[in-house]
Parts: sequence; structure tokens; C-alpha cells
Amino acid sequence: MNPMTICPALSSSSSSSGSSTKAWIVHGLVAGVAVAVAFGAHRYGMLRLKKFRSRVVGIIPARLASSRFHGKPLVPILGKPMIQRTWERAKQASTLDHVVVATDDEKIAACCREFGADVIMTSESCRNGTERCNEALDKLQIKYDIVVNIQGDEPLIEPEIIDGVVKALQAAPDAVFSTAVTSLKPEDGFDPNRVKCVVNNQGYAIYFSRGLIPFNKSGKVNPQFPYLLHLGIQSYDTKFLKIYPGLPPTPLQLEEDLEQLKVLENGYKMKVIKVDHEAHGVDTPEDVEKIERYMREKNIS
Ligand SMILES: *[C@@H]1O[C@H](CO)[C@@H](O)[C@H](O)[C@H]1NC(C)=O
Ligand SMILES: *[C@@H]1O[C@H](CO)[C@@H](O)[C@H](O)[C@H]1NC(C)=O
Repeated sequence: MNPMTICPALSSSSSSSGSSTKAWIVHGLVAGVAVAVAFGAHRYGMLRLKKFRSRVVGIIPARLASSRFHGKPLVPILGKPMIQRTWERAKQASTLDHVVVATDDEKIAACCREFGADVIMTSESCRNGTERCNEALDKLQIKYDIVVNIQGDEPLIEPEIIDGVVKALQAAPDAVFSTAVTSLKPEDGFDPNRVKCVVNNQGYAIYFSRGLIPFNKSGKVNPQFPYLLHLGIQSYDTKFLKIYPGLPPTPLQLEEDLEQLKVLENGYKMKVIKVDHEAHGVDTPEDVEKIERYMREKNIS
């Protein structure tokens, strides 16, 4: 995958331009960020002009009980627990100062400590990954500016994608949230478990849906259209994470059963990066066979 696809200005210039043009682009970018930082600082009452949102923690929320797949985090994938695979990928991300597993389960905690992970115990009352991240954040001794919620069911998540969402949030002070999308496969167009996303031309999210968006009047997937699939990774400004769980549920969030819509419905901005990534989410026991087959094919051990 190429993290440069994150910023259209950079990707379009990088191949042809000499170093002087590049320097100009970088300056332009820095100036843009400085203006935006001033705006963000005003909004959040912060006055740090350098290294905006520099302290970053990655949290992998994990629970044993699951309606669809009990014990999912511990399921072996080619001999290694799924959560260990996710953790190993997260540890390779260069933007994370710290990676922790947040869980309410002793078995998961013991397994994670064994392979060397830091574990934060959270209460069983956490209703979802976001609440678990929030509680874990409260229990960490160190203050962080950004928390990345790394879902344990994407064991092949590339460290570059984690770094990409972090950098996107650092470069977009008017956003409180960042996430990643990749190309949607045509056969997934009408699968409600594959969440679609549309973005504006600055790379901010307009909407997420379980339905096909945009919708072609033919009623079919248009093979020419670059539809976007949402990937289960998101990062938040930690100040936003403090208020996010407390915001009441919103109509579109409830209707689509998509938590991230609450962010947009409340008028907050969300930055979206586009990455090349073959999604291999593990939601069912059958998905384990699929991902193992894929890993053998690609010689991933
Ligand atoms: C809809 O999809 C078809 C191909 O399936 C494409 O030719 C057409 O341009 C798309 N848009 C509209 C408005 O029909
Ligand atoms: C998940 O947590 C958010 C707060 O972060 C809450 O508003 C939302 O209702 C929760 N979703 C579910 C499905 O429990």
C-alpha cells in the first residue's frame, strides 16, 4: 500500500516534480496546517502550536462474549491467537507511543500478557469498543492527544494504515476523528455488513451507509464508479472521546446501526484516508478459514 495516496496534493506531485517543487508543497502544507492549528487551538482552548496532537496511544479493545463468534479474539490463525496478530501489526506502527489491549476478560488478559502486551482491565459494562477505549484511556497514567481504536478482528491491518489515520488527524485540526477506506469490491455492493462511505473533495466524510452509496439509478453496482469500503480503524482526538459516549444517539446512527454517524450528525468533521488494503475481517468462524487460505497463498506466516 502507498501511504502517499492519503494526500492528493502530495501523490500527484511526487512522481514528476523536482526537489524545489516538493519543498514548496511542503511549505504550503505547513502553512495550511498552522492556520488550521490556530483554528483548532481556539476551538479546543489549546495553545500548542508545534507537534499538534503528538502523543498517541493505540488501543485494541477485546471481549470474549460475542453473539456471532464466541471467543473470537483468541481464535488461532495459522497457530497464533488473532489478537496477537493484530497487536504485532500495531507494534510496528511508527506513530504510536504505546499499544495496549483493553479487555474485561481474564483469559484474554492472560494470553496477551504472555505474548508481551500491556493490558488494561475494563469493566464488563462497556457496551462497545469506543466505551472500552474511553475507560482504558482514563486508566492510563499518561495523557494522550490521540487514541487509535484498532479493532482486533482485522489481524492483517498494515501498520502504515494506522500511521495514516494518525497523521491525517494531526494534519486536520478541524477534524475530531479519522478513519480509513479502501476500494469496495463490486460483489460486496449490497452486503449490509460492508459499510460504504462517501467523502467530499477535501477528504472529509459526508456519510456512511450499509446500503450502496452513491446509488446508481440502474439499481446495480456501476463497475465504473470508485465506491469506498469503510475499514474498522478509527482515531479520535482524546478531548472528543471524553464527550463522544455522552452524546445521545442520533436518528441516522440508530437507523443504520453505525456508531460513527453520531459524529457527523452532531456536525463534527471526520477525515478519511484512502488506502490500498485487501480487507480480511474475521466476523465468523468461516472467515478464519478464508484468511488462513489467503495467508498461505501470500506466504504470510
Ligand atoms: C450508472 O451506471 C451505468 C453503468 O452500469 C453507467 O453507464 C452510468 O453512467 C451510471 N450513472 C448514471 C447516472 O446512469
Ligand atoms: C456505543 O457507544 C456510544 C458512545 O461511544 C454510544 O453512544 C452508542 O450508543 C453505543 N452503541 C452501542 C451499539 O451500544
